Amino acid sequence: MRLQKYLAHAGLASRRKSEELIKEGKVKVNNKVIDQMGFEVDPQKDKIYFEGKLLKIDNEMVYIILNKPMGVVTTASDEKGRVNVCDLIDTDKRIYPVGRLDIDTTGLVILTNDGSLANVLMHPKHKIGKTYIVTVEGRPNGKQLNKLREGLNIRDLKTQKADVKILKNFDKDSIIKITIYEGQNHQIKRMFSYIGHKVKKLKRISMGEISLEGLEIGNYRYLNKEEIKYLRGLK
Ligand code: URA
Repeated sequence: MRLQKYLAHAGLASRRKSEELIKEGKVKVNNKVIDQMGFEVDPQKDKIYFEGKLLKIDNEMVYIILNKPMGVVTTASDEKGRVNVCDLIDTDKRIYPVGRLDIDTTGLVILTNDGSLANVLMHPKHKIGKTYIVTVEGRPNGKQLNKLREGLNIRDLKTQKADVKILKNFDKDSIIKITIYEGQNHQIKRMFSYIGHKVKKLKRISMGEISLEGLEIGNYRYLNKEEIKYLRGLK
């Protein structure tokens, strides 16, 4: 790895700024000042110092779950300046959300700096269930819900089999628990819209074995050892 890249990864400064620090003679590799660009270092073997202080790349992975409130976007940054999920987490790690919830959806979001996790959790081939509690307009009947259970195969919406259970029927709306095994854009809203029942409220309560239980809205927590072991086991 090039020295300036190492400095940036160690969180010293941006890559450009790191180059300047190297040119200024402030960086040593194994007690020798290196002021030339492009010097290759071995992160496992070489000792890299800035102004005498040993630098280390922090490879520690973090796994966090957040109970996302309404009005918060699920991106690491937002061009419109809206509050994003990372703003709610107090960490100096570069974390980002795994999969997206719409701005008006609440509930479970996993945030991590483990780059390989997102693909495992979101790719349909891994069949990781994402469970939602949905409030829809009206009362969908068994035939309509069976369409969702069997999987849709229409032009712009193809879904795998889903688990669907009515939790409560009111006069004007119904509360339904649904588990889907992929994560397409606005998938739940589109599925219910297809059977003619608009989604009024949507909350994600679990992803695989990771559950939101006991976490207040707007709060977050670090996953425990068992949960991390489970996530890593999926890879
Ligand atoms: N499906 C949706 O329609 N919206 C979400 O936020 C998540 C799943």
